[in-house]
Amino acid sequence: MATKWDKKRSEWYCRAIEKSNYPYKALKTLSHMIKQCDDIIDFGAGCGALSIPMAAKVKKVTAVEPSRWMLNLLRARAEKAGIKNIRTFNAGWKVSGLKRNMLPGIKPHDAVICANLPPDVVCNVRFFHYISKLAKKYVIYLNGAGKWNRFYYDDLYPMLLNKEYGHGGDYLNMYAFLHQQGIYANVNVFEFRLDQPFDNFEEAMDFWRHRLKIKLTPRKEKLLTDFLKKKLLSSERGSSFTAPFGTRRAAVMWWKQ
Ligand SMILES: C[S@@+](CC[C@H](N)C(=O)[O-])C[C@H]1O[C@@H](n2cnc3c(N)ncnc32)[C@H](O)[C@@H]1O
Repeated sequence: MATKWDKKRSEWYCRAIEKSNYPYKALKTLSHMIKQCDDIIDFGAGCGALSIPMAAKVKKVTAVEPSRWMLNLLRARAEKAGIKNIRTFNAGWKVSGLKRNMLPGIKPHDAVICANLPPDVVCNVRFFHYISKLAKKYVIYLNGAGKWNRFYYDDLYPMLLNKEYGHGGDYLNMYAFLHQQGIYANVNVFEFRLDQPFDNFEEAMDFWRHRLKIKLTPRKEKLLTDFLKKKLLSSERGSSFTAPFGTRRAAVMWWKQ
């Protein structure tokens, strides 16, 4: 399945997750549900930000993830941690076709969690019905709450692309979608940090070239260099860097089946 989560993007995300308090904060918010579950489906599991800590708390986690790079990272992290109760599926929801979306090996689990999935997936009526059938106790959506200066795009779009960055919606759009389906979800909001580590400055430059998908002119390369020199925090020895993105919020929307 075609995915924008290629090798580089997946590895950067995974490194950010490993330094982040997002898994801990999310699990804390989900804990009252997790402790009532034996098995959980993590749909769009990524590199296992939630699957891996959840595996220590339930009998079985089923991780569904369309990006093979993300899935490889998840498997490697699970193996390193000695975790054996995560079953993985390299698959994802295709907005255009119902039949292909049925994963025959997946039976209903106590909970299905969909964390940080694209809005066209989680706000798709057929997807909603599909995962609702797979969840015996809880369905859980998790998504960003409020605006954040996504990867400094508020500054970088006008500077490098000569336009404003168009913020997508946040969890409220998903809440409205659920409301239209007759679901009046419970909501819990938590704060977290998800900063981006880099081994060196050139890697940071590559991150933004890759994300913005543009070939920068020498003038724009210089603008980006000067901007990042001001933004990035360097390690004590000065060779590695972190892009601090500040405190963010996420909303857990959940309902009982
Ligand atoms: C931002 S990552 C979040 C990963 C993980 N759930 C987390 O919270 O860290 C988004 C994930 O959604 C997955 N994804 C994107 N489109 C998908 C689809 N149509 N079906 C299932 N997963 C999808 C991506 O491959 C990616 O791993």
